[in-house]
Amino acid sequence: MDQIILKEALDRCVEITRKNLDRFRGQFPNAFSENNIYKAIENNHWTNGFYTGILWLCYEYTGEEIFKEVALENVVSFKERLDQEIELETHDLGFLYSLSCVASYKITGDEMSKETALRAADLLIGRYREKGGFIQAWGALDAEDNYRLIIDCLLNLPLLYWASEVTGDKHYYDIAYTHAKTALKYVIREDHSTFHTYFFDKKTGAPSHGATCQGYNDTSAWARGQAWGIYGTVLSYLVTKDEKFAEDFFKVKDYFISNLPEDFVPYWDLIFKEGDEPRDSSASAIAICGLLEMKKHLVEEKQIQELNRDAKQLMQALIENYSASSEDETTGLLYHATYSKKTPYNTCTPEGVDECVIWGDYFYMEALMRMWRKDWKMYW
Ligand code: GLY
Repeated sequence: MDQIILKEALDRCVEITRKNLDRFRGQFPNAFSENNIYKAIENNHWTNGFYTGILWLCYEYTGEEIFKEVALENVVSFKERLDQEIELETHDLGFLYSLSCVASYKITGDEMSKETALRAADLLIGRYREKGGFIQAWGALDAEDNYRLIIDCLLNLPLLYWASEVTGDKHYYDIAYTHAKTALKYVIREDHSTFHTYFFDKKTGAPSHGATCQGYNDTSAWARGQAWGIYGTVLSYLVTKDEKFAEDFFKVKDYFISNLPEDFVPYWDLIFKEGDEPRDSSASAIAICGLLEMKKHLVEEKQIQELNRDAKQLMQALIENYSASSEDETTGLLYHATYSKKTPYNTCTPEGVDECVIWGDYFYMEALMRMWRKDWKMYW
């Protein structure tokens, strides 16, 4: 990618974030915008870590102390969230604590950040279910109607790989590795599309069935789920070096790329190839990060070129037609994402359709940073 274009795109992200620092100080942007404006919310949702991640990216890109100062305030909020046990019954502890506290520890060496992230890792392994060999995504542990994993969880595993590395305790690694093997075995279908969620029998641990929550229906491929699969397989591959994960990466990646519409930005479910359905630009941003990470671990020139080409095409589309500018009436960075669109066949709560979403903003900026600074060290 042209460095000037990347710099302009990153500058726009920083300008928008800087302009809105006071609006969100002491709080966080909501998961999704309304008319491209995020409400300010407390630290009580699965998505709060993404804003702190954006602040760290702004700090690393600009070197401006103000971004670090606010990011560190957020880190204190993440410690308090653990102390006060606010909305912690979720596998999304990885999303929350990797981008806030692990990032903080990696960038500043702050010990409190490290200890806080390790506490989050301890909570996360508590959701591991021996029967089935997976981390339970949602709800009360062992609840019959929630005895399942979801593909998104692959992004929560880096917190555990990191915890093993810093403590020398292999237990975290073993749980993450087992979960990744279980998840990829069952969520990838014959045609390499993916299930969003997969149920297991609570008594025996036997695999039961796939089902969607946020996709169009149980047999379709929710675009963001497929993107979590792309980035998620890489994040487990780079630590475990399990070649099966590399094979899985190419399967889910090829399905994603082959099912994009003409402008290279997916509809919210890959079942749609044309028409007026909303897009999910955040799925594209997540996928680009996966492609750029995977190419660092490949030796075959042909495969590296393929991933470069795919990443460039996806990124060009986002920069040219989906990115926000600081003159716009927006607090988000990336337009036209979809959080959850209700259909007669899924179980989600409808929210954030054709809006900015905070993780879309984060992954867009991470992808830009990866292209801008080749030696950038990820927070995962
Ligand atoms: N992890 C929830 C989502 O992608 O909407």
